[in-house]
Amino acid sequence: MFIAFEGIEGCGKSTQLKLLRERLEAADRRVVSVREPGGTPVGDRVRAILLDGALTEMTDTSEMLLFAAARAQLVREVLRPELAAGSVVLCDRYVHSSLAYQGHARGLGRDFVAAANAPAIDGLLPDRVVLVDTDVEAALSRAKARAALDRIEAEDLTFHRAVRAGFLAEAANDADRFLVVDGAGTPEAIHATIVEGLGL
Ligand code: TYD
Repeated sequence: MFIAFEGIEGCGKSTQLKLLRERLEAADRRVVSVREPGGTPVGDRVRAILLDGALTEMTDTSEMLLFAAARAQLVREVLRPELAAGSVVLCDRYVHSSLAYQGHARGLGRDFVAAANAPAIDGLLPDRVVLVDTDVEAALSRAKARAALDRIEAEDLTFHRAVRAGFLAEAANDADRFLVVDGAGTPEAIHATIVEGLGL
């Protein structure tokens, strides 16, 4: 089973991924969790380029292709082999982040970004996508309190609102795959909603 966690920065998706991993491990499931971009030596190098605030000249298309390159590596090096070995794979962001950030918010177009990602994902879509949906202002102040903002996090509120709208549009068009949860509750309450929603 392959479950991706999605949402804007500071929405709490990484906390939820960790809680689900702990629950599955307690039930003796073999679980692998990875984050995007990254999760492989090649992907981690690409990640450093993508998040480097000094690289202000990066074009939207280059950005999209670099995310796709890191993803292509992750699919082949980690996701496919782990799924074949029977692991539950939990991914902190996957292709729907590209559709929301590069397709919707950067304005490249979701179909264009989906087409560019087709060779990267090679047909591998998550069985379920957990979208932790949160108010943009609250989430961003959480992200800011946590650490210095990277190149993409440093975009303005309008950008992050477009990302949120992009995720919600993706969820509306793929309702069987998506589980949309309200990120406003306590971590434990959100976790319980996710466990129930995924039928785990
Ligand atoms: P990261 O520090 O992992 O952020 P978070 O903890 O919020 O997941 O940085 C990833 C950044 O890259 C984040 O701002 C979202 C962005 N991103 C895209 O724009 N497109 C993508 O396809 C992915 C995977 C991430």
